Amino acid sequence: MAADKAGVNIDRLFSVKGKKALVTGGSSGLGLIMAETLLKSGVRVYIASRKQEKCDVALAYLERHGDCAAVAADMTVPEDRARLIETIQKRESGGLDILVNNAGANWGAAIEDYSDEAFAKVMNTNVNAVFSLTREVLPLLELAGSGRDPSRVVNIGSMDGLQVPIVQRVPTFAYSASKAALHHLTRTLAVELGPRNVTVNAMAPGFFQSKMADYVIREYGEDIRSDCPLGRIGDPEEIAGTLLYLVSRAGSYTNAAILPVDGGTHASKGHRPWMEQ
Ligand SMILES: NC(=O)c1ccc[n+]([C@@H]2O[C@H](COP(=O)([O-])OP(=O)(O)OC[C@H]3O[C@@H](n4cnc5c(N)ncnc54)[C@H](OP(=O)(O)O)[C@@H]3O)[C@@H](O)[C@H]2O)c1
Repeated sequence: MAADKAGVNIDRLFSVKGKKALVTGGSSGLGLIMAETLLKSGVRVYIASRKQEKCDVALAYLERHGDCAAVAADMTVPEDRARLIETIQKRESGGLDILVNNAGANWGAAIEDYSDEAFAKVMNTNVNAVFSLTREVLPLLELAGSGRDPSRVVNIGSMDGLQVPIVQRVPTFAYSASKAALHHLTRTLAVELGPRNVTVNAMAPGFFQSKMADYVIREYGEDIRSDCPLGRIGDPEEIAGTLLYLVSRAGSYTNAAILPVDGGTHASKGHRPWMEQ
């Protein structure tokens, strides 16, 4: 009753119909889930990933759900980003409402075998390219954003950026450092861009089935489940719902947040029920 008087418009709260979005790494895993979620919500979606064939396969699937375009482009390559942005600019005179920086890379190896090249590649994909793309897309984001409905940047971080990774048998030095850096970059950008009607938030997912996570989930599933208070990995709809919150009216006053989507794993590390100790 009180909420109705305050004017909560339930129909509008999670609606994103008519918005325009770019999802990097939208050809598989979490990116594909988020692209599908936005399309089913009436958003025009652009996806970008390096391999033409993966883009083609994803596009054939996504087109069934709405208006989608795919651009084969490597987010670490300036010319590729420029070509992607030009494609969007040509069609979207009103700008871009949503940028999901999801493309990411990982590398696991013992410290003795962890090369500088591998470390740099992970940092370059997960941090440098996110910063560069966000800077370059900013004019389009500013065009679409307004005071009560800012444009949204959603960075896909990781619970590994909140804590030392739980699956220590596969050391991922650069990955966890890159995700911690991405979380902090999120906060810095949020403070800088808020006054320009652009919010910047991050999700910090736990384990979800994907090409990147398949091996670890298969080999260390027991560790993963036992470290999670909910005793399981995440479901696609749990990423979809978090994204919809962040990019809709419901999330328009949320800025500089790092939202764990990990069943509480980041808070429980090392904890065991006392009777088992
Ligand atoms: N799955 C999980 O459990 C989990 C947990 C926490 C965080 N995350 C994060 O979620 C994001 C998505 O990962 P995922 O698990 O869904 O993995 P995935 O299935 O391997 O997807 C990664 C996507 O990124 C694209 N990509 C990689 N490098 C790129 C680049 N330089 N430029 C453009 N696109 C690029 C890949 O396509 P191409 O090969 O065609 O480039 C692919 O579409 C990552 O940032 C990851 O760190 C995942």
